Amino acid sequence: MPPSVFSPGTVGVRPQADYQIGQLFRERSLKTFHRKPSHVPSEPAQPSDALHHSRFMRAVRRERVETTPVWIMRQAGRYLPEYMAVRSKVTFMELCKSPELACEVTVTAQRVLGVDAAILFADLLPILEPMGIDLEYQKGEGPVIHNPLRTAADIDRLIALESVESLDYVFQAVRLIRAALPADIPLLGFAGAPFTLASYCLEGGGSRNYVHTKSLMYNDEGAWNALMTRLVDSVILYLLAQVAAGCQAVQVFDSWAGCLSPADYRRYVLPHSQRLIAAVSQEAPVINFLTGNPALLPLQREAGGAVMGIDWRVELNDAWDTLGNQVAVQGNLDPVSLYAELPVLKQRVEHVLRAAAGRQGHIFNLGHGVMPDMNPEHVRALVEFVHESRIPR
Ligand code: CP3
Repeated sequence: MPPSVFSPGTVGVRPQADYQIGQLFRERSLKTFHRKPSHVPSEPAQPSDALHHSRFMRAVRRERVETTPVWIMRQAGRYLPEYMAVRSKVTFMELCKSPELACEVTVTAQRVLGVDAAILFADLLPILEPMGIDLEYQKGEGPVIHNPLRTAADIDRLIALESVESLDYVFQAVRLIRAALPADIPLLGFAGAPFTLASYCLEGGGSRNYVHTKSLMYNDEGAWNALMTRLVDSVILYLLAQVAAGCQAVQVFDSWAGCLSPADYRRYVLPHSQRLIAAVSQEAPVINFLTGNPALLPLQREAGGAVMGIDWRVELNDAWDTLGNQVAVQGNLDPVSLYAELPVLKQRVEHVLRAAAGRQGHIFNLGHGVMPDMNPEHVRALVEFVHESRIPR
């Protein structure tokens, strides 16, 4: 256990712990935000205009941009010393549940990297807690679910959220982050796609072959659909509340769907992802991110979303040919490219930019999250390479 200023499990429960977090934030925020007031608009604020015309939102709408926007999945993570400084004082869950600290790590990552969008600091799985899942982040192990759903009877005990009040710490964080970010930097909310969340509920953690998940799909399609329906109902409420609190767009992470064949994705996943994305798209653009299987691209497109997030297993121009020009595309540098020497990294960044040349609506990103041992200087360099590139758009 890292040294913690709080005893585990007290955040949000004991007023004293909240007070300590607030105090820590106030001390830090003086240093972090007030030293650089560049984001405070000098004219009467037109924040919605600045956001609407931001590089990122223009690309989402496939409008012309002078410079390709870039952000990095997991940009506020363990590779950043600024994140580790905060994280060394609290557990991961305490960080997620402290709106002030979540705000601090989100805003700091955007500022030190110079990226064109911020992503809310949170995680895919805490939404499952109020649904009845016993979740723990174990050091070095990632998330563990102590009461995985294995039978149809287990699935009956998963409660669809009727209200997202118990996740209010997330929406509080969104409000703080929106107020602290520069006026032209959009804030992205996010959630897990129903398949990825279902696989966590069923496997109890990460998985190699998704045996429990696929067994339920194949053996009890009724229970599978009941599970997916409850997840979709809950995630719709959760994402709409993030948008209402101040997010400009949201990303749906289908991080594990790549393990499925196209036929299985179509039958067991597509209708559920479609319902989720259609409902949320009424209020904000959705980035539909799926990784691990380029054969799913046509189905990912059918699932919906203004932006398709793709990985590096397919050339970006080929993916875009498959997806068609009615969507923006986000990606798709192999995150392992960041281990390359800077001149090589630059060539690899330019390869992706060249693949997008001639089309509107490219948002540069990695094809998956940045690794925890990454040199932050390389991540900063990547952002500069994208911003300074002279490759014609
Ligand atoms: O991108 C960002 O900067 C925003 C924050 C963010 C986190 N998790 C913080 C986090 C986001 C968007 C996520 C999404 C997430 N969480 C995904 C989908 C993303 C993807 O890469 O496909 C998944 C699968 C999870 C579940 C999860 N959370 C895992 C598997 C782990 C452990 C593995 C790991 O990378 O450590 C986490 C923990 C987690 N989520 C950390 C962070 C910064 C590290 C926790 C720590 O500080 O110890």
